[in-house]
Amino acid sequence: MKKYIKPALLILLGAFIILQFFRGTPPEVRTDNPNDIMAHEVIDAEVATLLRNACYDCHSMESNYPWYTYITPLSWWIFEHVEHGREELNFSEWASFSMKRKLHKLEEISEETMEGKMPLESYTPVHAEAQLTDEQRQLISDWALGLVEKAKGN
Ligand code: HEC
Repeated sequence: MKKYIKPALLILLGAFIILQFFRGTPPEVRTDNPNDIMAHEVIDAEVATLLRNACYDCHSMESNYPWYTYITPLSWWIFEHVEHGREELNFSEWASFSMKRKLHKLEEISEETMEGKMPLESYTPVHAEAQLTDEQRQLISDWALGLVEKAKGN
């Protein structure tokens, strides 16, 4: 039995190294975003910081990719989160959304954040700044629902 351990480990290591050639391409990063929500909605500094720290890696064009992002198979999983996150809600494209879409997304932001579904659970252990307290969740929610109310003219 013992004599198989070393070759087995070597095969695993070889497979891991080969995998690194198939890491995929990280979703594009862009820092100049004239349509970004920060430039188009009233948003106080505290909420802006919370969104940037807890949401922007997956919901904007300004994703940060720390070194481990590039390790396959982690890379596949992380790049997929960013792509899917942007598809659902891309803060960098905010000004291009219809009013209906904006209002819907704002309501979803409140809901997902208050229910603890966002930021994704897999994200927060390695991003201390994205671990939101109940008060911080409430701040995000109040801001989002405040904009909805304002848009509806209440
Ligand atoms: C690690 C990546 C990641 C982070 C960080 C993250 N999200 Fe998400 N988010 C996703 C993905 C992936 C989806 C789509 C799949 C799903 O709903 O689980 C999503 C979906 C959503 C949706 C649903 C959109 C819809 O219309 O149904 C909202 C709203 C949302 N996120 C808001 C936020 C907010 C607000 C934050 C920060 C407090 C945040 N997310 C942080 C990855 C992320």
